[in-house]
Amino acid sequence: PGRFRIAVIPGDGIGKEVAPEGVRVVQAAAHRFGIELDVEWIEWASCDWYAAHGEMMPDDWKHRLQGVDAIYFGAVGWPATVPDHVSLWGSLLKFRREFDQYINLRPVRLFEGVPSPLAGRRPGEIDYLIVRENTEGEYTSAGGILFEGTERELVVQESIYTRIGADRVLSFAFETARARARRRLTVATKSNGVAIAMPWWDRRADDVGRRYPDVAMDKQHIDILSARFVLQPDRFDVVVATNLFGDILSDLGPATTGTIGLAPSANLNPERKHPSLFEPVHGSAPDIAGLGVANPMAMIWSGAMMLDFLTHGTGAGRAAHDAILAAIESVLRDGPRTRDLGGWASTLDVGREIAERVAEPMQAPA
Ligand code: NAD
Ligand code: IPM
Ligand code: MN
Repeated sequence: PGRFRIAVIPGDGIGKEVAPEGVRVVQAAAHRFGIELDVEWIEWASCDWYAAHGEMMPDDWKHRLQGVDAIYFGAVGWPATVPDHVSLWGSLLKFRREFDQYINLRPVRLFEGVPSPLAGRRPGEIDYLIVRENTEGEYTSAGGILFEGTERELVVQESIYTRIGADRVLSFAFETARARARRRLTVATKSNGVAIAMPWWDRRADDVGRRYPDVAMDKQHIDILSARFVLQPDRFDVVVATNLFGDILSDLGPATTGTIGLAPSANLNPERKHPSLFEPVHGSAPDIAGLGVANPMAMIWSGAMMLDFLTHGTGAGRAAHDAILAAIESVLRDGPRTRDLGGWASTLDVGREIAERVAEPMQAPA
């Protein structure tokens, strides 16, 4: 079914702990389904590299990564030594932009065996997909500070939206909704307060939506949408949002499923002109880094999304993806658990157990 080059970037903190478990499981699944992976470990794009070189990445980083089929990314950020905007604009945010990974897919699912902090919620009642715009919007370095250090200090931070940028993420979201059973799309907006960009975003949604009469679209202001993630999560199917709103929703959603340690993401360049990047939603978690207690499931599930995307069309990647998901589900039912899930297992214990169940799936009970 194919052979692929994967650049693994562990990054910082727990990124360095979950990445090996992700690779372990992805390799087990690839092996089982006849996919060959050439894995290359990369030590740059980390705050350790910054400490030694005064920059996050070598100058020819783009050249070095352009030929890989995918980037499998842990997490970057070590604010004790490098300011977050420096480390992230010097690595992850650069990848997203320069490789035009304009779709960020972030599934949110409540699993059997994981209690939701929302009272009474059962698996099946929280199962939606966030499609986050990933290259523009509120994330910019356009703007500046005037009269710095005086009483008149004035800060401008621009948001930038383009018609191409909005239409392509909205189209992707409509297509995605169309392919699902419920065919529902919620568009996150804030057109009552953010008076230029957000009414425009709503009009783009209406315009693009005309091509998808079979998808039920509704627009919700981000404030009440956040409340409904908590109060009525079963109402959601696909949710599309601009960059910052999508960022916030994609920590809130997973929190309602019991832990953010489970939440995966796929930063896609759907045209496949550039490598796509697969990473957990969570960060480097300095508070637990080095203890070996991080949940590797978000990294592992992201690896499943990577195999699915890579082998698009052959079936082997989909099978590998499904086998990894089944192994995660099975471990969540009766396997070792990390602390965030109320257990005492290590990152390594969980990674090994999932890899074993991927390699030799257990028989379903009769
Ligand atoms: P975080 O996601 O790193 O951590 C938030 C909380 O969740 C912490 O208490 C942490 O211990 C816990 N947590 C996160 N992942 C976990 C896991 N797999 N298992 C168990 N617990 C987990 O968010 P933060 O504290 O805001 O950020 C820390 C650093 O990570 C910062 O430098 C930030 O900029 C960076 N960050 C990077 C990424 C990325 O690389 N994609 C994403 C988010 C944050
Ligand atoms: C994420 C992260 C990043 C983002 C940060 C680290 C820049 O929070 O991937 O969700 O805001 O996109
Ligand atoms: Mn985030």
